Amino acid sequence: VFFRYDTSDGSPRYGGLPWDPFKAIVGPRPIGWISTLSADGVINLAPYSYFNAVADRPNQVYFATSSRKDSQVNAEQTGEFVCNLASYRLRNEMNVTSMEVGSEVDEAALAGLGLSASVTVKPPRVTAAPAALECVYLDTYRCKKRDGSEHGYEIVFGEVVAVHVDDRYVGEDGRVDTLGMQAAARLGYDEYSWIESVFRLDRPDRSMFDHIS
Ligand SMILES: Cc1cc2nc3c(=O)[nH]c(=O)nc-3n(C[C@H](O)[C@H](O)[C@H](O)COP(=O)(O)O)c2cc1C
Repeated sequence: VFFRYDTSDGSPRYGGLPWDPFKAIVGPRPIGWISTLSADGVINLAPYSYFNAVADRPNQVYFATSSRKDSQVNAEQTGEFVCNLASYRLRNEMNVTSMEVGSEVDEAALAGLGLSASVTVKPPRVTAAPAALECVYLDTYRCKKRDGSEHGYEIVFGEVVAVHVDDRYVGEDGRVDTLGMQAAARLGYDEYSWIESVFRLDRPDRSMFDHIS
């Protein structure tokens, strides 16, 4: 299948596919399960799969939001958020917290999730999440279309100031057991995945490529 998004020549949308395959192609995407506090102190929790790490030392992350949702508003107003790692075991709770409810509703309570106090930031973390990143809000980027007009999506950046990992997922060798955490990831359509296998690779040895200077 090949298609262009510009269908002004009359070609079928998505080359005849019923749905845009974009998210099925750009997947798996990690899920940032963002906990924040409103200016009034109301807890908010929501999953974002337009989420990833963007830099290390210092470590930075982003989540992108299709409109000004509570997570963005709270992160901007309070300057803090927490990225909880969504796991296969917590998939149903994670899904419940994606419901679009009023800002006065605590989605964690709705999903029956226990929360624990964070150490360096005010928003709490999801106790059962295998890991969580305490973040300080940095900046918001307003996405544009290629003609320069507003896209509508905004990207919220934060710096990771503290890390929690459930001790069950810290191995004897000091590595975090990514496999054991069963991190959940978003694919396209209604599909998800989780880390079921891990392989190791060493960086390539330059001396094996003697033709490069
Ligand atoms: C797995 C999953 C991933 C999602 N990813 C995003 C995302 O990247 N951006 C977005 O705007 N909404 C995303 N949503 C929808 C939000 O979670 C939903 O709109 C939620 O109500 C926003 O909550 P908030 O207003 O409390 O921030 C996702 C939903 C699910 C279930």
